[in-house]
Amino acid sequence: MTQPALGVRALDLAAPATFVENDVHEFWRAVRADSPVYWHEPTDRNPGFWVVSRFRDIQSLLHHEALSSARGNVLDVVLRGDDSAGGSMVAVTDPPRHRPLRNLIWSAFTPRVLGAVVEKVRQRTDELIAKVIELDTFDFATEVAEQVPMTTICDLLSIPAADRADLLRWNKMALSSDHADSDEFEALGARNEIVLYFMELAAQRRETPGDDVISTLAAAEVDGERLTEAELAVNCYSLILGGDETSRVSAICAVLALIENPDQWDALRAGHVSVESAVEEVLRWSSPAMHLARTAKADFTIDGHEVREGDIVTLWTISGNNDEAVFDEPRRFTLSRSPNKHLSFGHGPHFCLGAFLGRAELNALLSALVAKVGRMERRGAPRPIYSNFLNGYKSLPVTFRGR
Ligand code: HEM
Repeated sequence: MTQPALGVRALDLAAPATFVENDVHEFWRAVRADSPVYWHEPTDRNPGFWVVSRFRDIQSLLHHEALSSARGNVLDVVLRGDDSAGGSMVAVTDPPRHRPLRNLIWSAFTPRVLGAVVEKVRQRTDELIAKVIELDTFDFATEVAEQVPMTTICDLLSIPAADRADLLRWNKMALSSDHADSDEFEALGARNEIVLYFMELAAQRRETPGDDVISTLAAAEVDGERLTEAELAVNCYSLILGGDETSRVSAICAVLALIENPDQWDALRAGHVSVESAVEEVLRWSSPAMHLARTAKADFTIDGHEVREGDIVTLWTISGNNDEAVFDEPRRFTLSRSPNKHLSFGHGPHFCLGAFLGRAELNALLSALVAKVGRMERRGAPRPIYSNFLNGYKSLPVTFRGR
């Protein structure tokens, strides 16, 4: 097994505090230069795992047939053992079932459904930005960033208005990254509530189908069979898991990066750079999901290292998104960057199913800022999220002044 080369400090990549207490971009730069693929030694808490840091290796491994997602696609889950949703939830299902399941979910996202959801995202974001301009100091995370993604997913799934408060409450309890001292049992209970809620809703929509995503999923077949209510429920939940926190942290990171790079904010406001191009740079810069995890189904070689069947392999997309071999001056926030083929939505067969919505949410935010805001100022230190997976902040005190 290979150790990181001399010069690369061994950081515990399973420990959430690592990502708050260290300059991780400096760490990844050294890793890419000295030991782009290395074996992360086991600790007294966790088994060892492979670390892959270069863009080209990550991209090629995301297509590799010897790598499986079925035991989980995030480090914490694969370190604990198996993902209980493996083989049922699209993100943690392997071929041959993955493709038809993914196609089914994709087919439910019709242009009509997505068009209506995006229209609501724009309206809601415009209203939120108009409201916060009136305030003195406010927390962008709670007042704006937190208000959009869950409501968007509820719109996408046509969740009845009366049920939304419960779903939002359970989801907050289920999120571990918000509290350093979160209660594991409370979180587990909340996740069960969400799955049970979706099972009931799926059963109702099966009985009285409507013109919505859950009804489409409930009526369709994969390999000649309908999805069970449990399968429907975990796949509905997967939209929350995939789309809530990632969208939230990217919005917070967008505002922080614009405040810290006033020349880029000016260029955006002046129309010297398109909102579409800015969205891609925000996604690269924020790298909301820092890694993707896989498990080897067979032995294979990567960059001269022998990976054995059963080994855990972690692909650090946050490092790939800052790989100097692909991105010129990667630690410069450059809204006009082109090309900008980042890995923030993954790559290959599991490429994000919500990429269109994730981009639309950021587009709505940047467009609303350009239309309504003149000056943005930070009013205190942003509070970082403690996580080995999610990159970003949970609080960002700011002041916005109208144009
Ligand atoms: C997959 C990131 C928004 C639903 C993924 C993957 C990444 C990602 C990296 C690949 C996972 C893997 O390869 O194991 C993001 C980011 C977002 C975002 C950064 C926002 C900025 C959304 C939204 C939704 C969503 C809004 C739902 C409406 C999904 C689903 C998958 C997925 C269902 C699994 C696809 C598959 O396995 O075939 N996302 N996502 N995501 N995402 Fe997103």
